[in-house]
Amino acid sequence: MCGIVGYIGHRDAYPIIIKGLQRLEYRGYDSAGVVLFDGENMRLAKTKGKVEDLKNKAESTMPTNGKLGLGHTRWATHGVPNDINSHPHFSNSGDLAIIHNGIIENYESIKKALVKRGYTFESDTDTEVLVNLIEEVKKKEGVKLGKAVQIALNQVVGAYAIAVFDKNKPDEIVVAKLGSPLAIGIGENEYFIASDASPFIEFTNNAVYLEDEEMAIVRIGKEIKMRKIKDDAIAYPNILELQLNLEEIEKGGYEHFMLKEIYEQPRAIHDTFRGRLRPDQGIIKMAGIDQNSERFLNANRIIIVACGTSWHAGLVAEYIFEDMARIPVEVEYASEFRYRNPVITENDVLIAISQSGETADTLAAIKLAKENGAFVFGVCNVVGSSIARETDAGAYTHAGPEIGVASTKAFTTQITVLMMIAMKLAKEKGVFSESKYHELLTELEGIPQKVERTLETNPLIEKISEVYKDSSNCLYLGRGYNFPVALEGALKLKEISYIHAEGYPAAEMKHGPIALIDEQMPVVVIATRKGHYEKVVSNIQEIKSRKGKIIAVVTEGDNTVKELADHVVEVPEASESMTPLLTTIPLQLLSYHIAVMRGCNVDQPRNLAKSVTVE
Ligand code: F6R
Repeated sequence: MCGIVGYIGHRDAYPIIIKGLQRLEYRGYDSAGVVLFDGENMRLAKTKGKVEDLKNKAESTMPTNGKLGLGHTRWATHGVPNDINSHPHFSNSGDLAIIHNGIIENYESIKKALVKRGYTFESDTDTEVLVNLIEEVKKKEGVKLGKAVQIALNQVVGAYAIAVFDKNKPDEIVVAKLGSPLAIGIGENEYFIASDASPFIEFTNNAVYLEDEEMAIVRIGKEIKMRKIKDDAIAYPNILELQLNLEEIEKGGYEHFMLKEIYEQPRAIHDTFRGRLRPDQGIIKMAGIDQNSERFLNANRIIIVACGTSWHAGLVAEYIFEDMARIPVEVEYASEFRYRNPVITENDVLIAISQSGETADTLAAIKLAKENGAFVFGVCNVVGSSIARETDAGAYTHAGPEIGVASTKAFTTQITVLMMIAMKLAKEKGVFSESKYHELLTELEGIPQKVERTLETNPLIEKISEVYKDSSNCLYLGRGYNFPVALEGALKLKEISYIHAEGYPAAEMKHGPIALIDEQMPVVVIATRKGHYEKVVSNIQEIKSRKGKIIAVVTEGDNTVKELADHVVEVPEASESMTPLLTTIPLQLLSYHIAVMRGCNVDQPRNLAKSVTVE
């Protein structure tokens, strides 16, 4: 969490930093700040609130010129969100400025030592401690900034992506990374620093992503100098040519990124299987699986670890893998898995699912599994992300940048990747006949069109949202493949509209949640024809007889549920395993419209951040 941006070069840094922070605002948005250096003066603006508030403050209180600058958008860890705790922070001398994404866990002991040496602190942040530690090392050891950063970082425990400069050396910025992402954009006589490439994509396609425990010095007119922080070994920049384009990170006429991303799903799912799925040849090509299929086929079990929406995709995958490939699967919250001393063996395959590829708990679970000899496979969206690099093999979802904090297209594309893996393994194991395999491949290929048709329910869902926008609670029920979809629907509603919502397997209703049902309670029920349909219809009857309000997601042409439910949303017919790719769409739209009607900030819900790089 937290977004960082830096610039050094021949342009004014301020507009680059502000625009960059706006693009990174999904990473944290409770406060923001910018520091600019014009060769003589350091100018600082910081404020609680959004980047827009920062912009207003900066432009009304200070000149905004300067070819060197750093900016930060914060998701608070140490210290409440306020002006003082916002980044950048200065060292006591006022010479050094820093921005930081991450947590310095041992900051209190370092702070005590610095206080003894006469340092004072304005903020409650770990970051102000770090910049003063760098200053102290620099003075005490008589070393340059780069060396001081390196020595200081060897004394800290925690995670960081930092950028620091010294106003006495205004031609360089020092950056370092451990556990939080950091990209350097390379232009003509200019460098850009950012948490991801979106702040600099219109200026350059050339970028270096630092690896953990690497640092770099970017100096005007010089090539990047990189080192390993621990052993001081020289590191060599791996300059990548980025594929990202500006259109992908802009709203493209939609009111919110979330809506744009919901509507992108037909394209995103298509991109996920493009080049991989070949029904005409009866094959699925996935290098990560082709090269490692023995590991999967000989596995005792597959353990899936993930968080949030990605965990829900993992639950859908559990049904898919067990049903299609007949491989036992366990799905774990990464945060629980990493701390519960799990039994992991060399015959286990661990699949880590993560949109951002940066989630700290998922990364830690991967490391634990690798230490115990398991084979680790990643399903990530962000290319070059930490999880993508940390895993033994993997498959990207190719959903394109997901900027709305609430995950939408990540979910459906993760399911698509996992389904292709399961189908491939089912075929190799001989569970599927040629004809069954061909039939499913062809059906998956047709899913984007069905998603497109499902999106046509949007006006109806908007009307339904009007009815329930003032509800305080909502239940989501589903069975089988659609139980995780119910969980995901509930998560979407609570995180963006702040309505309390819970997802349940429909049959569990009678074991407790039924007590909640009265005429005030909307219940969203997924009742597609191929998934325990009759049993779900019975559940609907139980809700109706207790006067609950029923919003049912059904298969096109269903008349039975229409008689019972207050509202019916139809999705195209599909095999049960593929229904989550369709039934999730109306639930995303329902949360979206309700949140908009309640005046909530859909793309940046309170207290959340897109990339959870802290435990
Ligand atoms: C919900 C949401 C979060 C993420 C979770 C995992 O809409 O976005 O629950 O799914 O933080 O993030 P990734 O997939 O980046 O590991």
